[in-house]
Amino acid sequence: MRRLVAAGLLLAAPAALSAPPSPAQIVKYRHAVMNGLGAHMAGLSMIVKGETDRTGDAVMHATAVKELAHTIGALFPEGTGPGHEFETEAKAEIWSQHDKFVEAVKALETASDKLVDAAKTGDVAQIKTALGGVGGACGDCHDVYKVDDHH
Ligand code: HEC
Repeated sequence: MRRLVAAGLLLAAPAALSAPPSPAQIVKYRHAVMNGLGAHMAGLSMIVKGETDRTGDAVMHATAVKELAHTIGALFPEGTGPGHEFETEAKAEIWSQHDKFVEAVKALETASDKLVDAAKTGDVAQIKTALGGVGGACGDCHDVYKVDDHH
């Protein structure tokens, strides 16, 4: 009887009780977030270049960039770097010079906060300037901490 009850509890166990994500799953999620950033940046880029008339979407894209940017600091736990069975372009320096990496994360957070402020003005010139700041923060981090940089 006791065993049956225990089995029932296991079946009913919510996701919160399941095993924590594996390093490979953390890297996969990290890629999803980074690609999300890339997609919203691409949308904003089209807006400032006048390649779409969806200027009103700027606040939405900028807010998404900001919210995603503020999660990056948590997406690089120890054990998710190079030298494992999973594919990653994260460089070992993320952990060996972690204070500097944190600065690169903060630079993106600050730039993306400014991007939201600029987007709220609705002024394309201001959005363009702020977008340049965010793009610079992406590139500065990739230059140092990402392998095979294409950005
Ligand atoms: C603080 C450092 C840092 C910042 C800032 C940063 N990235 Fe990244 N990004 C990385 C690292 C490291 C990787 C490699 C991650 C991996 O392969 O595990 C990466 C990977 C990527 C990838 C490839 C994802 C894949 O599927 O392989 C894209 C796209 C990307 N970043 C876009 C962006 C954009 C756009 C921004 C700015 C809005 C940005 N990143 C800001 C560090 C950063």
